[in-house]
Amino acid sequence: MINYDSKSRTLTLETVHSSYQMQIDPWGYLHHVYYGKRVGQEDLSYVHRYYDRGFSGNPYDCDNRALSLDTLCQEYSSWGVGDYRVPSLGVRNADGSRCGELRYVSHEIRGGKYSLPGLPTAWDPEGEAETLAVTLSDPVTSLTVTLYYGVFYEKDIITRAAEIRNGGSAPVELEKAGSFCLDLPFGSWDLLHFHGRHCMERAPERRPLIHGIESLGSRRGMSSHQHNPFLILCDRQAAEDRGDCYGMMLLYSGSFRAEVELEQFGSVRAVMSPGDESFRWLLEPGESFAAPESLLSWGEGLSALTLQYHRFVRENVCRGEYRLARRPVLINSWEACYMDVRPERVLPLAREAAELGVELFVLDDGWFHGRTEDNAGLGDWFENTQRLPQGLGSLIEQIRATGLQFGLWVEPEMVSENSDLYRAHPDWALTVPGRKPMLGRHQLVLDLSRTEVQDYIIGTIGGLLERYPISYIKWDMNRCLSDLYSRSFPAERQGEVAHRCVLGVYRVMEALTTRFPKVLFEGCSGGGGRFDAGMLCYTPQIWCSDDTDAIERLSIQRGTAYGYPLCTMGSHVSAAPNHQTGRTTPIHTRAVVAMSGAFGYELDLGKLSREEKEEIREQIRRFHQDEALLREGSYYRLGEYTARQDAEAWLLVSPDQSRALLNVVVKASHANAPLIHLRFKGLDPDARYAMEEDEGVFSGAALMRAGYTLPQLLGDYPAVQLHLRRI
Ligand code: GLA
Repeated sequence: MINYDSKSRTLTLETVHSSYQMQIDPWGYLHHVYYGKRVGQEDLSYVHRYYDRGFSGNPYDCDNRALSLDTLCQEYSSWGVGDYRVPSLGVRNADGSRCGELRYVSHEIRGGKYSLPGLPTAWDPEGEAETLAVTLSDPVTSLTVTLYYGVFYEKDIITRAAEIRNGGSAPVELEKAGSFCLDLPFGSWDLLHFHGRHCMERAPERRPLIHGIESLGSRRGMSSHQHNPFLILCDRQAAEDRGDCYGMMLLYSGSFRAEVELEQFGSVRAVMSPGDESFRWLLEPGESFAAPESLLSWGEGLSALTLQYHRFVRENVCRGEYRLARRPVLINSWEACYMDVRPERVLPLAREAAELGVELFVLDDGWFHGRTEDNAGLGDWFENTQRLPQGLGSLIEQIRATGLQFGLWVEPEMVSENSDLYRAHPDWALTVPGRKPMLGRHQLVLDLSRTEVQDYIIGTIGGLLERYPISYIKWDMNRCLSDLYSRSFPAERQGEVAHRCVLGVYRVMEALTTRFPKVLFEGCSGGGGRFDAGMLCYTPQIWCSDDTDAIERLSIQRGTAYGYPLCTMGSHVSAAPNHQTGRTTPIHTRAVVAMSGAFGYELDLGKLSREEKEEIREQIRRFHQDEALLREGSYYRLGEYTARQDAEAWLLVSPDQSRALLNVVVKASHANAPLIHLRFKGLDPDARYAMEEDEGVFSGAALMRAGYTLPQLLGDYPAVQLHLRRI
């Protein structure tokens, strides 16, 4: 719901549980008034008291020493005209001045959801969204900024984006283009963010804000393993079920900056923007630049916030056939065969997998021209005839004859120097003239800012999908960008290349997913190096990490699940000992962890005992029973009320509260240890539930208040699943 009150000049946005308000002042500055728990539409501007602050200057025409851009809560901040906090907009004008002052021009409220040119945005399949567009303009340069707000009432999500247009007659250069600015005037806040490294992505880190700027982000040309474009600001006292929590998720897959500033008077400003310090964008008169969209949400407690993001990402970010559908159980050849994907290795794996109930075979790296090691072949997307003498088509046919669907690994944004593509088009790689480029896994990055490179990828990958019955594509991206220089742009536009490459990726993904709507795309970047809402618009699942160790995966998946639903996280049962950690875990535990994701297997089935194979057959049977619950159930992190820090517990409750699945994994067993005691959440307190594994019947209220005590769990990494069904 969006409402404009012409008397107070307030614009109020409402969702089921939250209100968001801004106000236009007499001079045209757009104040941010409120965001938080729903409080109705009355004018809340009384909350802000402004008075003459020392060393906080005042706009010339206001003649009001209380009004300072330096202390004002604003909807979109700029620099150079008296706001010394983190800016949302950085602009270098034609005369060399670096300033921009934004004043209200107009606003529009309309039904439906805005979109942005060249960028993915949340979509609105149910026609529930409303849009507010507020246009601000610099009175001197006529640079205009249109702030977009998409209100998803039922889902408690407000999307934001900004479009910047050069309405003047001289070129200007953007140095920063924030997606949004969020000023929180009062409170004491913790920042919860998700950092990591290759093989340990999205580890939650929560710390109190201290005065100054916390700056997180990526300069790697991808959203990165190191920092995820998702942040939470929460009240110091906030826990799973209490406290103000604000989520901010940038729908963007390239370098980004997330800045959170605790300023002199205790207010907090958060800004997220595409690109890093090297970002520059030349705007000729009449041209526009769209800053990517962000998804904001307020929730009471971290659990509520997570549930809001899960639902929204699943229903309004993901799209295509598989958005809300069951995904096939797959087997991936990588950890089973690595690059040795000869038919004599691959076919027995497919046959065994089909026998056990697997539904899709994924031929990973190693199948294409020149690829026997990771130093050749990228770019040449046709089969390696030494590996596959009868051709890819014949292998696909034989795999499909086992009853499995067929999926293929590709890494189309990259090129090996040892490839036909590179020999034909060395200028298609990102390199700086006169310098040797940085190599990553021996490979170079294609210059996706160039339309002909995008078209080449659309053509070759599209050709594969046309020629062969391929049901699934694993779209990998195995190095960071560097040497950001494109031969097709002049010197003054080189600062645009990183963002243009991201736009290029989006154009390619848009073309392929539109042309092949039935194909399931899984994103990947050395595991989860590009796990973001931008990619999720095209790939409804993303390989969560190259670390397949079940125990390590517990924290990776837990961290990822703060913002992203389980169905987006590719997760496989792999071999024991695990190839990354050398750890041996029970196959049951591996399956419990992998099922809380886009489920599959990635190991040499030929090396398993008969009992283990039987167990896999049983796991898949069980998975089918629980699949809908795992995919669309409400997800709760448990464990606040247990004395055991070495156990991980999470719960899924079906949308109608009729079923629940509790998952517990013990990370270290101890003699004479306290028992694991958990309180359920999200059940119907008045209902009675039968527990399959306990043969007991419990009331929802009892399970949520008195809780449930697990029996002693001994051994190496035991796991338990408990199923509840309403009776
Ligand atoms: C990346 C992926 C792996 C695998 C290899 C193949 O590292 O994350 O899953 O596909 O590439 O080279």
